[in-house]
Amino acid sequence: MKQLIDYLDREYEKKTRKSCQMFQRAAKVMVRGGSHSLRLWKPYPFFPVSAHGATVTDLDGHNYLDYWQGHYANLLGHNPEVIRRELEPYLAAGALHTGFENSVQIELAEKILSSLGQPGLRIRFTTSGTLASTYAVMLAMGYTGRHYVLKIGGGWHGSSPYLLKGVKFHPGRGFSQVDSAGLPPEFARHIIITRFNDSEHLEKTFKKYGPKLAAFILEPFIGVGGFLFCSPEYLKLARKLADEYGVVLVFDEIISGFRFCSSGLQRLYGVRPDMSLFGKLIGGGEAVAAVVGKAKIMEGCERTGTSGLRVNFEGGTFSAHEEYMRAGLAMLNYLICHEKEIYPRIGQLAARLRQGIEQAFASEGLRVVCTGTGRSPINGSSFFMVNFPKKDNINYSTPEDIWDPARSDVFLREEALKLALLINGVHVVHGGGCLSTAHTEKDIERTIEAYQRAARIFKKFW
Ligand SMILES: Cc1ncc(COP(=O)(O)O)c(C=O)c1O
Repeated sequence: MKQLIDYLDREYEKKTRKSCQMFQRAAKVMVRGGSHSLRLWKPYPFFPVSAHGATVTDLDGHNYLDYWQGHYANLLGHNPEVIRRELEPYLAAGALHTGFENSVQIELAEKILSSLGQPGLRIRFTTSGTLASTYAVMLAMGYTGRHYVLKIGGGWHGSSPYLLKGVKFHPGRGFSQVDSAGLPPEFARHIIITRFNDSEHLEKTFKKYGPKLAAFILEPFIGVGGFLFCSPEYLKLARKLADEYGVVLVFDEIISGFRFCSSGLQRLYGVRPDMSLFGKLIGGGEAVAAVVGKAKIMEGCERTGTSGLRVNFEGGTFSAHEEYMRAGLAMLNYLICHEKEIYPRIGQLAARLRQGIEQAFASEGLRVVCTGTGRSPINGSSFFMVNFPKKDNINYSTPEDIWDPARSDVFLREEALKLALLINGVHVVHGGGCLSTAHTEKDIERTIEAYQRAARIFKKFW
């Protein structure tokens, strides 16, 4: 394995000398040389100079087909015409200001709420998914007067202090540990973990903690946890138990919102949460996130609860900035108008890619399993994650299958595959990523060839 990574580092360094120099400069002033750990891969990240559609170009002049696509926010690819057309006249008119309410936010609010088709909802905008999940927990606690939160092992809701437990897999302990320093120990005791898609465990957990729980937060499509969909039965059970115990059911749709249809995944499942979180692509590439919920819960932002206090959800200096709202609105208008073409097309391309990658590795005598495949009622999924099973009988249905190093070769997926693909002109995170409307059939075939070359490199050093 050491020989493999030494070879990959050497090849990558040969190709990205200017980025290497830039990173050395960054490392002198920035912690670990940057601002987001997922972007700071080893030995160092390349630095982009431009990005259009499916492609990013780096300082050394190399092009990469990008499947990270702005942390999955860019459903229309990088720098899309649809958004630029909206923003350019607005910026040219000198309208760049913040600090006031604006009418565009009302349009975006109406658009999101009408897509959900549930009466009696309210929305408030903020600037990141992390803030949205933090406010959602505060609202649920304010509403119920309870102080425990239930989340899924392997679920990621951003760096919210209320939810930084059970994020990373720890051998022997699974998804049960606190994953950040700087949290008071009582926070950790108030976060309860349950297992993804495990109805029996959910029932047991509600029996034990139900009366104490303010919220149950989950991703109907778990992102970092492995690109896996909840079963409809599991979501229905979550709804039933939340009702029974008076718990606020929160769907984190920050990845899944508008990604599989021009609404939340909740529309496809037909299961309605009490609150939903949106982010990423609802901003059209700008910093927008939103908390949506039943009016009686959301009004906790402005109405004092039993404690005599309101939930201090102010969203931030830049919340609902008109520029961001315009970008988000242009994105959602486009998705709503073109829903029938976009989602089936990117779903079919991704299916071809998942199949092509598995075949490419198989032809070199190596087994990989791609997650991200849709399941009823989701017909097409634009996600793919490439996993290296360590045993034959792993069926890749839980975050444990993805992150337990005894089941999957996490190092190969997260580090070696990344470099092997970069030297072949493809950029991925967690072994894969998502498609955008800018990816073409030709791009997919080029990507499969890049995976094939990566497979050959792996085989050489196996
Ligand atoms: C499901 C989910 N929730 C919340 C977040 C946090 O969003 P942000 O990075 O905007 O803070 C993410 C980020 O990747 C996410 O995937």
